Amino acid sequence: MIWNILTFISFGFNIQTILSQSCYGLSDLQINNVCYHFVDQNMDYTNALANCTSIGYSLASIHDLNTNTWIQKHAASTIELRDAQYLWIGLYNPNNTWQWTDGSPYNWSNIANGEPFSDRRYFSMHVADGQWFTRPGSWETPFVCSGPPYGQGSSPTSNGYQISTTDSPSNHCPRNWGFFNGTNDCYFLKSYYNVNNTEYANCNGSIRSQAEQDFVSG
Ligand SMILES: *[C@@H]1O[C@H](CO)[C@@H](O)[C@H](O)[C@H]1NC(C)=O
Ligand SMILES: *[C@@H]1O[C@H](CO)[C@@H](O)[C@H](O)[C@H]1NC(C)=O
Ligand SMILES: *[C@@H]1O[C@H](CO)[C@@H](O)[C@H](O)[C@H]1NC(C)=O
Ligand SMILES: *[C@@H]1O[C@H](CO)[C@@H](O)[C@H](O)[C@H]1NC(C)=O
Ligand SMILES: *[C@@H]1O[C@H](CO)[C@@H](O)[C@H](O)[C@H]1NC(C)=O
Ligand SMILES: *[C@@H]1O[C@H](CO)[C@@H](O)[C@H](O)[C@H]1NC(C)=O
Repeated sequence: MIWNILTFISFGFNIQTILSQSCYGLSDLQINNVCYHFVDQNMDYTNALANCTSIGYSLASIHDLNTNTWIQKHAASTIELRDAQYLWIGLYNPNNTWQWTDGSPYNWSNIANGEPFSDRRYFSMHVADGQWFTRPGSWETPFVCSGPPYGQGSSPTSNGYQISTTDSPSNHCPRNWGFFNGTNDCYFLKSYYNVNNTEYANCNGSIRSQAEQDFVSG
């Protein structure tokens, strides 16, 4: 995570707000320009994927051993995840083809010996050793999402949240700013905010609802 201090700023006139080149959560892991977001809540595969999608990510795709090891160690050492034995990842088998939920190439795997079971279509990572095991989709476990840092890659569109990738987007937000339809405002999270900087003269950090708080805090 690149931001140590997260300051919330917003512009007046309803352009108000957002995020740039940063991951969704403060405790997200950023590796080779990919953000990994851990959710320590038991969910079945469908809901876990929907939860990742809601922040513009997908369930995590993993393409090399180093990244797999980073994720495994991070999960194993994160207090919140210490009790979680498995994490859903994005590898699944919708039609006899193993593929990643984010559509990236399936070009590396860490599948455990004896796997996959033909009747189980969804993979989880065993936090103890980083190996991948299939589980039925109805099984509920914590999960890890991945996606590009904000300001890069494609726009998240679900849950009312979008990142502008052009200068004149329909949501009126500046490029790389995020739009939250709950407030109809634009948001930008800065790592540092000098209140005396005239550039931010029209910014204020007002947070007016729990939904806005959730949106801003990730
Ligand atoms: C902050 O901006 C919002 C949206 O423009 C506005 O409604 C609110 O009154 C402002 N708050 C302050 C303290 O200026
Ligand atoms: C995703 O999971 C987090 C953590 O449990 C929760 O706070 C958030 O509301 C969920 N988002 C959706 C869209 O379900
Ligand atoms: C089914 O498999 C093909 C590859 O054989 C893939 O292109 C397609 O997207 C898959 N369908 C779904 C729903 O994932
Ligand atoms: C596998 O795919 C990922 C994601 O597109 C890419 O970054 C990586 O270079 C690929 N690895 C190999 C060995 O092709
Ligand atoms: C915001 O967008 C979401 C997803 O597109 C939609 O379900 C929701 O109704 C929208 N909320 C408002 C206030 O427009
Ligand atoms: C901001 O300006 C005020 C008034 O001029 C000054 O007292 C304060 O020290 C300044 N703060 C910073 C962080 O520069």
